[in-house]
Amino acid sequence: MEIRVEEVAAEELKEKPAGDALGFGQIFTDHLFKMKYTEGVGWHDASIEKYQNFSLDPSAMALHYGQAIFEGLKAYRGKNDEIYLFRPKANLERMNKSAARMCMPQFDMDDVFAALKELLKLEKGWIPSTQGASLYIRPTMIATEAGLGVRPAHEYLFFIILTPVGAYYPEGFNPVKIFVTDKYVRAVQGGVGNVKTAGNYAASIMAAVEAQKQGYTQVLWLDAVERRYIEEVGTMNIFFKINNEVITPPLSGSILPGVTRDSVLQLIRDWGLKVSERQITIDEVMEASGSGSLQEVFGTGTAAVISPVGSLYYKGQQIEVNGGETGELAQRLFAELQDIQYGKREEPHGWVVPLS
Ligand code: COI
Repeated sequence: MEIRVEEVAAEELKEKPAGDALGFGQIFTDHLFKMKYTEGVGWHDASIEKYQNFSLDPSAMALHYGQAIFEGLKAYRGKNDEIYLFRPKANLERMNKSAARMCMPQFDMDDVFAALKELLKLEKGWIPSTQGASLYIRPTMIATEAGLGVRPAHEYLFFIILTPVGAYYPEGFNPVKIFVTDKYVRAVQGGVGNVKTAGNYAASIMAAVEAQKQGYTQVLWLDAVERRYIEEVGTMNIFFKINNEVITPPLSGSILPGVTRDSVLQLIRDWGLKVSERQITIDEVMEASGSGSLQEVFGTGTAAVISPVGSLYYKGQQIEVNGGETGELAQRLFAELQDIQYGKREEPHGWVVPLS
């Protein structure tokens, strides 16, 4: 794929933020990658150019019927200023799966990966050197065809934007408070909960806002039918450690197959700990808390990395997990993952891809 590169003039480049003053997704780099799709033609007009507003027809189909998908992955600055990507192909593969589910076109993973690397080389100066900070990469695809008929669009825009980030939650790596909702549901079997489409997040906002009003950071979703089986948290997959068994809900079709989830499962298996991908009800968690066998709860995600859960609220009862402190396993996983992601540690799985 040929990419037209239009570099922003030196005097127009933005000022880069301090590495220790980063939130999440508020500052964007100087350039973006984009390409267009037209049915019958395929992907065309690939370019790396200035990060700026797009022009969209008011009837662009993404705005009306939500054909919009995205991914999240990160680039890290490691030793000797080497830049590392963590499992980038896993994210691109998942994006093509999201595209298939949403009747959107497939893209060539090698072409997009080459484009991403070219964009990153140009924006290398934006990758923070502060420990814990990274450059978050957001590949996105939207339907741009103008029209109000409900059907797959014939025209799409694919773009990649970059944002230097610190911790996703204001708590940083400190334990978060989670509200378990049995009022709202996120996804159903046969729906779109297992792909990364924008509407899943839109549908989650009301529950999150209500939880935040009551002092909770995020919502834990239960299954849509019985409202008992644990699914995932707003922006993360979820793990429990009960009686020395590490448990995470299985990929049943309604939860997101997280790349960090998969990596954490692998690390836990490598360490020889007992781990199960199995259904777990909220009652089992509450009972384990009551009997003193609930040892840890933590979330996993690209944005959040590992996020310890300090308390859970369900049906009028609030439980504390591990005395509200970060657990040993969450701490170990966080340290191990960060060491791998920053290229500080040899890893046997081939997860880390150097940019150069
Ligand atoms: C991620 O972890 O990368 C996500 O996409 C979650 C979120 C910030 C929407």
